[in-house]
Amino acid sequence: MENESIRTLLTRRSIRKYKPEHISEEEMEIILEAGKYAPTGKGTQCTKFVVIRNKAVRDTLSAMNAEILGTTGDPFYGAPDVIAVFANSAATKTWVEDGSLALGNLMNAAHALGIGSCWINRARQTFGSPEGRAMATAWGIPESYEGIGYCILGYTDGEEPSPKPRKEDFVIYVD
Ligand SMILES: Cc1cc2nc3c(=O)[nH]c(=O)nc-3n(C[C@H](O)[C@H](O)[C@H](O)COP(=O)(O)O)c2cc1C
Repeated sequence: MENESIRTLLTRRSIRKYKPEHISEEEMEIILEAGKYAPTGKGTQCTKFVVIRNKAVRDTLSAMNAEILGTTGDPFYGAPDVIAVFANSAATKTWVEDGSLALGNLMNAAHALGIGSCWINRARQTFGSPEGRAMATAWGIPESYEGIGYCILGYTDGEEPSPKPRKEDFVIYVD
């Protein structure tokens, strides 16, 4: 069956090589809109997205991430744009699921527009630290919102990763 949406879901891959140019504002708005429309448990809409295009802030978050990881490289792989996804842990028991689904929507929307993306971890540790919490507070993120993950974004620089073969035992049918 040929279906554009299904094709997008099947062909999205994590991209780890980016051109330095920012994605356009219009592209960013479409990606964010897709994130806003992700489902949330009980419809709480408990997520928030912080769009980081400022290089100094992006580099600071990358350095904090690398420190948690115990490396000196750039865990954001040179991506020029970063969306930090937060979810309100006081609003619902499903805040991790809600934030994760939003991140999935962001990545799939990016791919639908031909833009590279990757989920980068360690947002919870970063924004749980005093320095990270101070940054989040300065951005207007309330205390009860915790970091879920980063969606890094940018134009792909020639990388076309293939998916790993899928495991045999994904699906169990109960007829
Ligand atoms: C919860 C989560 C955390 C991830 N964290 C990272 C990360 O910190 N760095 C990274 O390079 N990729 C990260 N990834 C991307 C995965 O490595 C990637 O999705 C997986 O290898 C499958 O590849 P694909 O996305 O191309 O299908 C993460 C993915 C998920 C779902």
